Amino acid sequence: MPLSSIAGANIVLGVTGGIAAYKAVELMRVLEKEGANVTPVLTKAAAKFVSEVTFSALCSNKAYSSLINDDEPIIHTKLGKTADLVLVAPATANMIGTYRAGMANDLLSSILIATKAPVIVCPAMHTEMYENIAVQDNMQVLRDRGVIFVDAEVGSLARNDVGKGRLADLEKIVAVVKRTLGSNECFRDKTVTVTAGGTREFIDPVRYITNRSSGKQGIAIALEAYYRGAKVNLITANSNIPSYLLNLENFEVRRVDTAQEMADAVLSLSQTSDLIVMAAAVADFRVKNQSKLKLHRQDGLPKLELQSTVDIISELVALRNKNSLKSKKTHWVSQRIVGFAAETDNLTDRAMNKLKSKAIDMLVANDVSRSDIGFDTDSNAVTIYTSNGFIKEVDKKSKQEIAEEILNVFELEFNN
Ligand code: CTP
Repeated sequence: MPLSSIAGANIVLGVTGGIAAYKAVELMRVLEKEGANVTPVLTKAAAKFVSEVTFSALCSNKAYSSLINDDEPIIHTKLGKTADLVLVAPATANMIGTYRAGMANDLLSSILIATKAPVIVCPAMHTEMYENIAVQDNMQVLRDRGVIFVDAEVGSLARNDVGKGRLADLEKIVAVVKRTLGSNECFRDKTVTVTAGGTREFIDPVRYITNRSSGKQGIAIALEAYYRGAKVNLITANSNIPSYLLNLENFEVRRVDTAQEMADAVLSLSQTSDLIVMAAAVADFRVKNQSKLKLHRQDGLPKLELQSTVDIISELVALRNKNSLKSKKTHWVSQRIVGFAAETDNLTDRAMNKLKSKAIDMLVANDVSRSDIGFDTDSNAVTIYTSNGFIKEVDKKSKQEIAEEILNVFELEFNN
């Protein structure tokens, strides 16, 4: 199983003549860093904004802009046939119209109609042009033909104008590229709900009890499930969410504070979830005598009375078991639930016990006594246990790579 299907993928990066053409240089570099084999193809107008030489100098492949080349006489069919993906960013109104009409009047438009690979179009133009009925109509026709669009965003445009028409965030474009290349049968058409971060239990309106979870591992798992084609619900408590995730199609983000709010959100989504990953560090207790007003020093030391919070994962298992008994043909029967365990001692014993006592399908355990991994860091090391008795130790890696490992084990063990 490849760690990431963008690695080694042949991507034709079509660049058309808009002011956002300069952003395509950075996009090309990011795609190459991710391991893709990128060939830049510029229209004549694009080369007026950023020259072919810039792309050739920074890319491991030569950039092309002409249908006729000495080194490759029929470059459009060669690139069209060998491409795993054609990505047009930025795409002008002119290119979108040309593509819709099936015209082949330059190298990029010829590749677009010669390829059988998926095509992603990222429009960028002035608001008036973007909203024009003919342009909207052209985009809709292309969408109906299966072309994937990463819609333009609201932001600053050329000549200090502001409006809809700015090229989508590059991170968002890369995420859609990864999903297009990485979508697989285990996750496509499935709904995955992931919790991330540390819940907050309020003492008064300004103070709360929380934990050190940053939410990074959960967010990485949510993204990995998105790359593999799932519709994702990410429920986060107290974590920094990259802004591009907030308006990504098929990626819903819900923010919560307390364990109870998280429980309400996950339990309601469990009705439609095929996989639930409880990566959040949920508080085990909350303040029973929470004050509605701010507590003050002169009032003396408050006596905090604690009470248990709901054990969300156990509620999820109980709900699944109850519903799968009632209706044997629904998604409840195949719903899988994955838990996490952050431990400081006796990792294996505690992890095995949790897997069994909570009756979940998979448990991901990490040793939080190590300062080089886990809380507040970008790396992690985990041991994955499944209910089938499979155990996998994953040594220190980035949290995104750990997410890939977790979903690889999930696919291996539960793709039925
Ligand atoms: N969890 C949960 N609801 C809680 C507490 C934890 O759903 N109120 C979930 C976590 O998201 C995690 C798993 O249960 O996936 C294990 O969490 P952990 O805190 O390690 O387990 P606890 O059962 O709370 O046991 P302890 O804290 O005593 O180790």
